[in-house]
Amino acid sequence: MTSYYVTTPIYYVNDAPHLGHAYTTVAADVLARWHRLRGERVWFLTGTDEHGQKILRTAEANGVGPQQWADRLVTESWQPLWDHLHITNDDFIRTTQRRHTDRVQEFVQDLYDKGDIYKGGYEGPYCVGCEEFKLPGELIDGEGEFAGQKLCPIHRTPVEILSEENYFFKLSEYGDRLLAHYEAHPDFIQPESARNEVVKFVRAGLQDLSISRSTFDWGVPVPWDAAHVIYVWVDALLNYATAVGYNENPEKFEDTFPADVHIIGRDILRFHAVIWPAMLMAQGLPLPGRIAANGWLLVGGEKMSKSNLTGIRPQDLTSHFGVDAYRWYFLRAIAFGQDGSFSWEDFTARYTSELANDYGNLASRVTAMVTRYFGGLLPAPTANGPAEDALHASLATTVTESDHRIGDDLDFQGGILTIFDFIRRINGYLTTQEPWKLAKDDSPEARARLATILYTAAESLRAMAILLTPIMPETSQKLWTSLGAEASLGPLADQRIRDAATWGKLPPSSTVTKGEVLFPRLEEKSGT
Ligand code: MSP
Repeated sequence: MTSYYVTTPIYYVNDAPHLGHAYTTVAADVLARWHRLRGERVWFLTGTDEHGQKILRTAEANGVGPQQWADRLVTESWQPLWDHLHITNDDFIRTTQRRHTDRVQEFVQDLYDKGDIYKGGYEGPYCVGCEEFKLPGELIDGEGEFAGQKLCPIHRTPVEILSEENYFFKLSEYGDRLLAHYEAHPDFIQPESARNEVVKFVRAGLQDLSISRSTFDWGVPVPWDAAHVIYVWVDALLNYATAVGYNENPEKFEDTFPADVHIIGRDILRFHAVIWPAMLMAQGLPLPGRIAANGWLLVGGEKMSKSNLTGIRPQDLTSHFGVDAYRWYFLRAIAFGQDGSFSWEDFTARYTSELANDYGNLASRVTAMVTRYFGGLLPAPTANGPAEDALHASLATTVTESDHRIGDDLDFQGGILTIFDFIRRINGYLTTQEPWKLAKDDSPEARARLATILYTAAESLRAMAILLTPIMPETSQKLWTSLGAEASLGPLADQRIRDAATWGKLPPSSTVTKGEVLFPRLEEKSGT
């Protein structure tokens, strides 16, 4: 079986990462970790997009060279944030690395040799923020300080009018083949609304794509004409191939390429669902399995775009809520593929009710009762009844459903809700069974029931620790350790989703300890 290959976009290094970037990266990380827990070999790639006019201008504005600027941002901002958020990428590609630039030149040279590239003139609008050639029809009319000018609909800043001699890729020839591919692979672009948008765009007719720029030099030189650099998007998209050995390591490439899933934001959908597949078709390379677009993150209802940051850094949230809760929150609160809002109030409310109360309290109550009533040794379940049978059955459904939702459908919210429904069921079970009352009764029957109830609750939590590992790795590990599972069942990373529902894994007599509180009470913090 080949590797399960998942990617994030490679991010522009013109600025430090914000909540939107982290949202995409965490989603990709959860998917990668989920597939690892299925026992699959996974290759998870992220990285940075370092060429182009936008980076060049930012570097100039900061009085340093573009490479120096990129180095600084990568080592001081991007990589540290991914470490902080426990992102488990297997590689980090930077488009200024030789392993990338050499291969990009070979790719483009090949297309040129095949006659897929020709020289022409480009006259038209360009948005440096998007690094995109725009169609006049897409632009919006400026108002106020921009009155009389045409604006980019995403950045709401004036476009520049380019007039350059460029090289063009014959993108217009790929429309029918692209439409046939969308038709034959209904899941290729997700969600449905994104797919419809792309189909409509391609049906309207594709124009050839300018794939070089000749008015600045921060890019990969066009191999046959040093007066041009390769258009930053062609350079960037190729990272998905160059990072896994394109033209360099056939074995790695065969094993990994194409990606099973490219996770991206809606803003860069056309590049991934139109240009990238056409580039691959031109080379006879296989197309990715799926382009999954996440929705746009809004803060307090306001659009947080590349040019309009609200100033909340991911670290501001992790220092308050913790990294695990941060990873969980956005996937829990927003249906993947839909736009969604962030607010302190909403995060605080969900943290308190779902993480601290439903889940964290359950874990501490169960481990505390085993400690108090059985001296910390997990008792054997000898008096199973219908309530336990019902819980076993519901765990089996929880595992199958969450696996399908997260692992196959990228429905992170649906998967998390399924898991937390089960957590509420364990709570309900304890409320009905009232082990604290049984604990006051010394009869052998009462002891047997008490043992069974606590075993059942602990065993259910064992399964929760596994299912929640991809989303909340740190707290899952704490729970795993306090259940004594690390000692009896080995590391969490070695567990498998498909076995999570197998009842009776946790051996009686495991040493249970009352671990740290998983989700501490939040400090007072006024919302913004
Ligand atoms: N460099 C290109 C991508 C090249 S991929 C071959 C680029 N970089 S970017 O730094 O602007 O990052 C864009 C991505 O960041 C989006 O596609 C999305 O995944 C993520 N997001 C940025 N802002 C976002 C929100 N406000 N909300 C959700 N995701 C956002 O484009």
